[in-house]
Amino acid sequence: MSSISTATPSRTSSSFSSLPHFDRPTFLMCPPEWYDVNYVINPWMAGNLHRPSRDKAYAQWKNLHHHLQQIADVRLVHGQPGMPDMVFVAHAALVQHGVAALSSFAHPQRQSEEQPLRHWLQNAGFLVWETPRETAFEGEGDALFNANGDHLWAAHGVRTCRQSHRHVADAWHTPVTSLHLVDPRFYHLDICFAPLSGGELLYFPSAFDAPSRAKIEAAYSPEKRIAVTESEATQFACNLINVGRHIILGATGTGVAAKLTERGYAVHELNLSEFICGGGSAKSLTLRLSDSRITAGLGQPRP
Ligand code: ARG
Repeated sequence: MSSISTATPSRTSSSFSSLPHFDRPTFLMCPPEWYDVNYVINPWMAGNLHRPSRDKAYAQWKNLHHHLQQIADVRLVHGQPGMPDMVFVAHAALVQHGVAALSSFAHPQRQSEEQPLRHWLQNAGFLVWETPRETAFEGEGDALFNANGDHLWAAHGVRTCRQSHRHVADAWHTPVTSLHLVDPRFYHLDICFAPLSGGELLYFPSAFDAPSRAKIEAAYSPEKRIAVTESEATQFACNLINVGRHIILGATGTGVAAKLTERGYAVHELNLSEFICGGGSAKSLTLRLSDSRITAGLGQPRP
């Protein structure tokens, strides 16, 4: 069986130019109509069962949506009853060049999100690259392109299986570097590793094992590495949205905004407390649809 499925199964490689492309930074978001903490699949959810206020969550999400709309186009996919985590839409896929590597969630509690997202992506014209159930893959949660879009970083150890990395990277024939996550609090790459548009990396070194830290240090020179402290990391400082020189992140009350401002970024800190109860923050509430170069402000629109 082929790994590819699209809304139009007869599409061939000669029609790849008809895949969706975006001249402006573009993201997908999912309103928190059905958001709640109904089960515990990460350490942040423990003790927070049914704690988030729907009204507050909705107001915080709307504020994020409003801020993101100032710097990017935003599409919406609607959540569904029984899918309280679908609002964390970043984990449903990884998108680049109109191809979407669809997640195969590790936990059964999130697997029902795959079908509505497959459907949305196919309807929007994306070429959907399926990932096998046996080798879990959690989209942008565990796989992030650098700003240039020519290198993929992928994590394993908690949710995503290492065996999925090559398969996912093959969707774009891109080189991939595997990183091993070793602290259950940092169960996804996108809460401890954020490649930035200026070529820097914001990250929490202790989330990774020593060989992974060595790979990161080989790729990013000391001036390009911005390490966050444990208290910044545990307030999801790395779970940020970066569009050109703009950065949106959950309010951390720490020095991280100053570290980023010093590097020339315009930082917008928002209160996302209700989503922290579910184990996520700004970045996990959005899925990048435009190419990473366009999102980073590096690319020229395709003619
Ligand atoms: N409850 C969701 C989960 O455990 C939260 C995801 C947020 N993830 C993140 N990378 N910030 O899958």
